[in-house]
Amino acid sequence: MANQEDLLKKIIAHAKEYGFVYPSSEIYDGLSAVYDYGPNGTELKNNIRSYWWKAMVQMHENIVGIDSAIFMHPSIWKASGHVDAFNDPLIDNKDSKKRYRADVLVEDHMAKIEAKIDKEVEKALKRFGDSFDEQQFLETNPRVLANKGKLDDIKSRLYPAMDNDDMPAIKKLIEDLEIACPISGSRNWTEVRQFNLMFSTSMGSTSEGATQIFLRPETAQGIFVNYLNVQKTSRMKIPFGIAQTGKAFRNEIVARQFIFRMREFEQMEMQFFVRPGEEMKWYEYWKEQRMNWHTSTGIPAEKFRFHDHDKLAHYANAAADIEFEFPMGFKELEGIHSRTDFDLGAHEKFSGKKLRYHDAEINESYVPYVIETSIGLDRMFLAIMSYAFTEEKLEDGSERIVMKIPPVLAPYKVAVFPLTKKDGLPEKATEIMDGLKQDYMCFYEEKDTIGKRYRRHDAIGTPYCVTVDHQTLEDNTVTIRERDSMQQERVSIDKIGSIVAGRLRGK
Ligand code: GAP
Repeated sequence: MANQEDLLKKIIAHAKEYGFVYPSSEIYDGLSAVYDYGPNGTELKNNIRSYWWKAMVQMHENIVGIDSAIFMHPSIWKASGHVDAFNDPLIDNKDSKKRYRADVLVEDHMAKIEAKIDKEVEKALKRFGDSFDEQQFLETNPRVLANKGKLDDIKSRLYPAMDNDDMPAIKKLIEDLEIACPISGSRNWTEVRQFNLMFSTSMGSTSEGATQIFLRPETAQGIFVNYLNVQKTSRMKIPFGIAQTGKAFRNEIVARQFIFRMREFEQMEMQFFVRPGEEMKWYEYWKEQRMNWHTSTGIPAEKFRFHDHDKLAHYANAAADIEFEFPMGFKELEGIHSRTDFDLGAHEKFSGKKLRYHDAEINESYVPYVIETSIGLDRMFLAIMSYAFTEEKLEDGSERIVMKIPPVLAPYKVAVFPLTKKDGLPEKATEIMDGLKQDYMCFYEEKDTIGKRYRRHDAIGTPYCVTVDHQTLEDNTVTIRERDSMQQERVSIDKIGSIVAGRLRGK
């Protein structure tokens, strides 16, 4: 675990040193859980966003995109349930003065019990080798069964307490489980209180005339309230989807782990409108599609897993997360939810407007059911950084840090270096750069040795470095060096574009 925490620290330091992510307002000592993206981070973020957009909108004729406003009518958040129910239970430790999400304290405790079960399985696997039957072991081993019993007991208390907003019951659970503050080690807790996560501000010029409005906590509602406009203006027929990317804001109680949990972040969401009764088919379809999207970047499948929700939100009839193996372990990266007709139904009720769809094929009008896919762009960014960050010892004993960012997402695709600053090499390198930069983000560098320039581009994940030397002037060839293998090849200048293009195609 210590190693994994170290890894996150190294990624944070690397992100800052190489212009990916800076703490926001740093010269004023920062603003908690708010971050700014530097030049390389902005490129990477733009590339992730457009890779998503391409997969969702460009590749699906029945999905279109919108860009709705961050400010929305306050009744929207009443209808969606956010005003009344977008709460987290918070608890403070009186000794460390640290604030926690009470349910997360319990979930962390559960994760420790789950880790004990995993350890038992690991030990047994070593002992029994190939003859090991994991299923049978999980169903019969007394220590595993005892721990499973503890988990069931905790779940049977936590989930109803959360559903019923029963704060004293959560406090009692924390006491009964003897959960201590990770900082002070004490069990000196305050009561558990509900805390609404929405940020509010006021709109209007005079304090009497001003209306309280909220900064949207999800982009999804902008899609729901526009669904009929989009359906009509784009002449969409069910099943169809609406995609949107944009900022969302949540006053998270505990904002830790870098850009994993932020107070201002960006979401990439898609709502897919379907016939009632057909939602499970589409739910399975989107689970598969979204998992395929993740692995299409070249990140190995074992870095991802599904986690089906035990406890469903009141509006959902099925929900799963795609989890990614972050340095802190497997954590939610994306949610796929079957949201029934809850949102559109609620907006019909609160707005008094009909949000029905007339399905000409079956000659029926109904409020469509919705499958949602929702991923945090910043969280995806952290997933990519976590996967890509690699420390390597090279054959000559030297070391390098290389960001093995999937080439399609890398901030720069090609770096062009003249070997020296004279003899016409910079001019030739500039000419090559000019030929490539219409199609790819390219970087021109002539300072320092070639070795140092390679290291700098390894550190930001540039898949290809092209070096222009004296031979280039004679036969129009360059060396092209591939980031991960460090293999160099001599190729003619007119081949560079197709070599780069070959690595950029996603699946
Ligand atoms: N419309 C559904 C919705 O917003 P969610 O599970 O609350 O669902 C979806 O959020 C995704 O947004 C999460 O899977 C995560 O990737 C991202 N996300 C949520 N809260 C976040 C935060 N505070 N910081 C960064 N990303 C966050």
